[in-house]
Amino acid sequence: MLVVNGPNLNLLGSRDPVQYGTTTLAEIERGIERLADELGAEVNFFQANGEGEIIDRLHACRGEADAVVLNPGAYTHYSYALRDAVEAIGLPVVEVHLSNIHAREEFRRHSVISPAARGAIAGFGAVSYELGLRAALALIATEKR
Ligand code: DQA
Repeated sequence: MLVVNGPNLNLLGSRDPVQYGTTTLAEIERGIERLADELGAEVNFFQANGEGEIIDRLHACRGEADAVVLNPGAYTHYSYALRDAVEAIGLPVVEVHLSNIHAREEFRRHSVISPAARGAIAGFGAVSYELGLRAALALIATEKR
């Protein structure tokens, strides 16, 4: 499993705590790792602010990961390049958001990534990632059957 975080998510903990809480990205990753251990999954993490870096990492995970949990940050709302990469890698991608993007500003209510993702989870803070991991594992298990 690869867990990818996009722009500004490296600032979690201090960035807009009302929306995103005070948990740091490192703490969220530790929580995901614990759950992954419990569920017998291996997980790798990647965060980048640049669109190209994220796209390159997605390309590189083919043959290495069975599924991806992706928080595209603000790229969610306008990056057709990232959307195309999600489609192109041919792996199940679960889109996650800490905040409920549907209850926020108009521009955040639309995701250009969602049509290429297998599903999306939004609004549960750090728990969104844990649900994302469980969803991704369920997809893998179903597809291996
Ligand atoms: C976010 C929501 C986006 O609108 C925002 O730009 C982010 C974080 C979330 O996790 O809630 O950076 O993806």
